[in-house]
Amino acid sequence: MKKSTLMMGIASALLLAIVCCPAAQAREKNNRPHPKLVMKALVVYYSQTSNTRAVAMEIARLRHADIAEIELVNPYDKDYNATIERCKKEKKEGILPEIKPLKVDVSKYDVIFLGYPIWFGTYAPPIEAFLNQVDLSGKIVVPFCTFGSGGLESSVKSLAAKQPGAEILDGYGVRAARMNAMPEEVDQFLTASYFIKGKVVKLDDFSASHRVSNDEAAIYNAAIGDYPMMQNTRPLFVASRSIPDGTEYLFTACEKRKEPVDPNMSIRPPKEMHVYVIVVNGQAPEFTKVVR
Ligand SMILES: Cc1cc2nc3c(=O)[nH]c(=O)nc-3n(C[C@H](O)[C@H](O)[C@H](O)COP(=O)(O)O)c2cc1C
Repeated sequence: MKKSTLMMGIASALLLAIVCCPAAQAREKNNRPHPKLVMKALVVYYSQTSNTRAVAMEIARLRHADIAEIELVNPYDKDYNATIERCKKEKKEGILPEIKPLKVDVSKYDVIFLGYPIWFGTYAPPIEAFLNQVDLSGKIVVPFCTFGSGGLESSVKSLAAKQPGAEILDGYGVRAARMNAMPEEVDQFLTASYFIKGKVVKLDDFSASHRVSNDEAAIYNAAIGDYPMMQNTRPLFVASRSIPDGTEYLFTACEKRKEPVDPNMSIRPPKEMHVYVIVVNGQAPEFTKVVR
């Protein structure tokens, strides 16, 4: 993959505005390291098909952190449909998969990078089982995840509700289809959040949003491609900003709806979502995440 495309991915991942913090600047001048650089860090993750494992290993490598995998007593089948079925059954019966004892003592660490695949819109059930066994109060928790289309934001909300005593950061997420962009995005994420030293790409804010033009709708459709869960959506509004070598779009989209046959029929309003799309000069548009 071209370097410029990787840079676009980085830019896209840094949706949080990266601001120059005066406190950080003062520390830099005094040559004092940012506290997050020296905190004891552990990467804990669950991964079924290795995407999240790859992110976990990259974080551990860059941050020189210890790493531990959450393993199941009875692992899920690697087959997607079989996993869906087992998950649904477990959910219906109110049971969580049993996890093996973690090989490290979480209480000894200040920062926990917690990684998981998104399942049914939030962290996978083995993480729920893990969170039932630990108290992360007083720790910084840095969520990271991989997904088909999105789910970081909703999983972070669930984490905050589950571990109210912990400081939960916004975290990092990447589509399974964009794993090649991950190493540079992780580097930028860790740098921007002061966990490692380095330079970050500072991005402009998005422009004010306007109704989509035909050209912009074509960009949306090209980015969605044949991704199954997005076929039933259409873009309504769009904002944009420059990123290195291209443009990032923030579409507000909604489910496509047929007009009700009976105008008095009560129907729920179509669900809106935000769809982030990058277009690197000369390359096909791709979506980086959907926030529902
Ligand atoms: C049971 C199941 C449910 C999933 N649900 C979602 C979902 O709600 N949203 C999504 O974007 N991706 C979903 N995915 C896709 C995974 O999040 C994605 O493939 C992830 O990268 C897998 O990570 P892993 O390789 O670390 O296991 C689901 C996958 C499985 C197996």
